[in-house]
Amino acid sequence: MDGIDRLIAGLVEDAERAKDAGAGVTDAQIEAAARSMAARGFLPARGGEETYRTLATWVATVRAGLATRGLLLWGEPGRGKTLFLGKFCRAARTVRALQIAELYQEWGRARVLNWLAEDQLDIVPEDYYQLAIDDLGAEPTGKRFGETTEILADAVDQRYRQWQRRGWAGATFLSTNLSPDQLADRYGARTASRIAEMCAVINLTGPDWRMR
Ligand SMILES: Nc1ncnc2c1ncn2[C@@H]1O[C@H](COP(=O)(O)OP(=O)(O)O)[C@@H](O)[C@H]1O
Ligand SMILES: [Mg+2]
Repeated sequence: MDGIDRLIAGLVEDAERAKDAGAGVTDAQIEAAARSMAARGFLPARGGEETYRTLATWVATVRAGLATRGLLLWGEPGRGKTLFLGKFCRAARTVRALQIAELYQEWGRARVLNWLAEDQLDIVPEDYYQLAIDDLGAEPTGKRFGETTEILADAVDQRYRQWQRRGWAGATFLSTNLSPDQLADRYGARTASRIAEMCAVINLTGPDWRMR
């Protein structure tokens, strides 16, 4: 994609996002979500009010049963991405991207993808097919028997199919220190655009909480 295509695609995506960010939730529901976030220890930071409201809107949408997409939280380290995933993206499983890359090294591609898509229960809990992947991009590129694989790109493809099939019940929650452009550079434009389609993309700004 050259610059102008990227720009147009970005505008279309922004319009889509504006449409479904907070679709159907009221200000009161957003405020209630923000209060419950703070009550659970996820606090607003000075200068991060707008981001906080965006997050609260997403949480309100989930609480109202209106969410259709998962989440991509991106931003600098120490902004609360992992904390938010753990507290508000209640997937049945959370794995670190690094762990997926390590298992790939040990098991190979087919087995690790099978493990990610595990489907052994007869009666599955409601959130069973949702998955949180923490720290996408922090893993080294997978190497096995001289073959190089971005196993996380494969994992994202698999998650995309899961989402197409199940919608919200198959949603994926991602955190990353990489920007969307950097994700596209590393995993390819196709993977990046799949993430943008299946996830609400939120840039976590504000201060580094670890420096306080
Ligand atoms: N919104 C927040 N409210 C309270 N503590 C926070 C918040 N965001 C981050 N922290 C704290 O800051 C530290 C780093 O957060 P973390 O989620 O690991 O950051 P990231 O994943 O973005 O690198 C953690 O100890 C976390 O508890
Ligand atoms: Mg983190």
